[in-house]
Amino acid sequence: MNKDIITVTSPLLPDLGEFNKILKDIWERKWITNNGHYHQELEKALAEYLKVPYVSLFTNGTLPLITALQALRISGEVITTPYSFVATTHALWWNGIKPVFVDIDWKTGCIDPNKIEAAITPQTTAIMPVHVYGKPCDMKAIQNIADKYGLKVIYDSAHAFGVEVNGESVLNAGDMSTLSFHATKVYNTIEGGAMIMHDEETKKRIDYLKNFGFTGETEVIAPGINSKMDEMRSAYGLLNLKQVDAAIESRHQVAIKYREALRGVEGIEFWDDLPGVKHNYSYFPIFVNAKKYGMTRDELYFKMREQNVFGRRYFYPLISDFSTYRGLPSATPENLPVATKMANEVICLPMHHALTEEDVHRVINCIIR
Ligand SMILES: Cc1ncc(COP(=O)(O)O)c(C=O)c1O
Repeated sequence: MNKDIITVTSPLLPDLGEFNKILKDIWERKWITNNGHYHQELEKALAEYLKVPYVSLFTNGTLPLITALQALRISGEVITTPYSFVATTHALWWNGIKPVFVDIDWKTGCIDPNKIEAAITPQTTAIMPVHVYGKPCDMKAIQNIADKYGLKVIYDSAHAFGVEVNGESVLNAGDMSTLSFHATKVYNTIEGGAMIMHDEETKKRIDYLKNFGFTGETEVIAPGINSKMDEMRSAYGLLNLKQVDAAIESRHQVAIKYREALRGVEGIEFWDDLPGVKHNYSYFPIFVNAKKYGMTRDELYFKMREQNVFGRRYFYPLISDFSTYRGLPSATPENLPVATKMANEVICLPMHHALTEEDVHRVINCIIR
């Protein structure tokens, strides 16, 4: 690979020497999956780190979404955002649920609570919002609507590792929350994910569901799935947990430099930190107003690529624009003007723990004209 390339992300990797030592221990234990020692340790450590009562590890961030919907027996229609990774809506499809797309708020990229009520029908059973880029949704407003109409709330918190509002984890909101530990995320276990729940009974039920529904040697209580995290990735996750704070701080410093350099650049918009929020700096989206900037988003994106700076048009296209979902009544661009504008203007700049001062300057120099 060309050394000059600046990638949009780079995986946080544990120290290989330390990982090797743990691998040796796993080899000696000869217990490599099915709720092993490191799996249990990681669930405990994550619950503490994330300030949540219960964590159930999964093999990726998509299966906990699918399983949460199963566990809560969600059916009919679910209100969700088109401005996310496609797995959010796929999880509904895998459960035979009709997605109903609601527009987003320009200030956060998250679902706009003011537009939710108009989308509720007698078939609506739940709301599935996304803390997109780790920006907290308006959780209070969403819960008020859910309570008023008797709806469940499942947060796709794939981007929201460690995010807190006034000292409280956003993962505690709603009925359940899910995380992704994919290699591209702030905190990764290569592939991996988790579900956050409020009580021990639910934790037990989820643990059964991710293991085919087995409650013991001879009993299966539900048509569960296989989504167990193995011992190698659990151990890798324990090592990464030790360095994730430093990684988030490095990202924070990059965000500070981007903001300093880009503030005042005509036609380039970005978000500042929100008061009372502990951010994880998982992404740094900018929004390109072609008229004011004098260049379209795509022109800038490809100009950056020519200079070996790889941003990402994330999220573009909208989920509602993919062929699977395009035919839904709620998928029309007229129903989703803010999300459509954001998808057409966004570039996520390179953002990871290992960006150097020089890398950051190269990115900035692509944008400043
Ligand atoms: C918002 C969102 N939801 C769900 C997922 C799915 O997670 P995974 O890739 O771990 O299955 C992702 C992953 O990129 C995501 O960004």
